[in-house]
Amino acid sequence: MPSMSFPDLMSKKESLGRPLIMGHRGAMGHAPENTLASFKLAHEMGVDAVELDVHLSADGVLVVHHDETLERTTSGNGEISAMTLEQLRQLDAGAKFSKDYAGERIPTLEEVLTWAKGVELPVVIEFKRNPNVRAIVEAAIGLVERMQAGADVAFISFDHFVPAGLKQARPQWTTGVLYVGRPVDPVALAASAGADGLLPNFYFVEQEDVARAHAAQKWVGCWAPNSERELGYAISQGVDMIGTNFPDRLQALLK
Ligand code: G3P
Ligand code: CA
Repeated sequence: MPSMSFPDLMSKKESLGRPLIMGHRGAMGHAPENTLASFKLAHEMGVDAVELDVHLSADGVLVVHHDETLERTTSGNGEISAMTLEQLRQLDAGAKFSKDYAGERIPTLEEVLTWAKGVELPVVIEFKRNPNVRAIVEAAIGLVERMQAGADVAFISFDHFVPAGLKQARPQWTTGVLYVGRPVDPVALAASAGADGLLPNFYFVEQEDVARAHAAQKWVGCWAPNSERELGYAISQGVDMIGTNFPDRLQALLK
């Protein structure tokens, strides 16, 4: 499968004749975020990559979940980092979204990467700013290495020390900087972290900035336009990848 490096991503975009579609936490507009059901649905909707968030359980296993705490999306309470994988596995991660998804579990990163490899789908792994982020990144490097999946993933963070450190540790792996706002020099922002990609909130994307990124051999993947108007704006600015909760809406607009 093509990697998320600048040349591979740009050549895939060119061959498709459209920006790449990234399923945000899977297809979270339609299925419980960051679950296998959500990633599988996103894949059925024809995404080119899926995005997810990771945390570490108390016994050191990387699990796929957005918040540091459990109550918003699962039947549990409290911090993920205080619970073992076995305890996390007992929680329902689907019913709060819809009773149709009752019984869905919090997946491990290994499970998602294994599934994604099987269907040849790149995975964009976001590391949240967290006092424990170094340990989370170290665990992710170990897992990705063990699974020989370095070419199939991109590592992104709002904490730009994460992609910077990763690039030093594994120069060949793809990294990206997340941000909200419109920096005067977005290329310098990415370059200071040695990142391959820029990931601005869609609201701040300007065509001119995309052109500057391309001139510096960096791709632009924005997130997370969801309405037709928002998606239309992101498409009109010429970005290379769009992360959305509704991959089906984006597909329909791109046809
Ligand atoms: O892909 C970037 C986006 O996921 C960042 O925001 O809060 O949805 O993780 P959040
Ligand atoms: Ca995310």
